[in-house]
Amino acid sequence: MALIRLCHTAELEASGPAAANSGRRLQVDAPDGRRLLVIEADGQIHVIEDDCPHQYFPLGDGNLQGTVLTCALHGWRFDLTDGRSLDMPGVCVERWQPVVEDGWISIEFTPLD
Ligand code: FES
Repeated sequence: MALIRLCHTAELEASGPAAANSGRRLQVDAPDGRRLLVIEADGQIHVIEDDCPHQYFPLGDGNLQGTVLTCALHGWRFDLTDGRSLDMPGVCVERWQPVVEDGWISIEFTPLD
């Protein structure tokens, strides 16, 4: 499967309700229409589906502490390193392993387990 280029690291922007604690991020559209979130946390780039699995609010609007992203609507927390919810056992956000070359962030558009 071919790599799909999402964005350049220079496009990531600090945002969120507490910008000082929020990683640089960008919401992008996947080729199949899904919205993805590219976010830098603890010096690592993560790519997850942007829609919260609870009620599909954009996770990119949430607050980041370390590698834990908190949905801004009802507060479900997700660990970016594995996608798992810290509040709802068995619930995960879909995530992809990014490839970063010369600042360009790409993914193989195959969901991780
Ligand atoms: S929509 Fe994210 S916790 Fe409810």
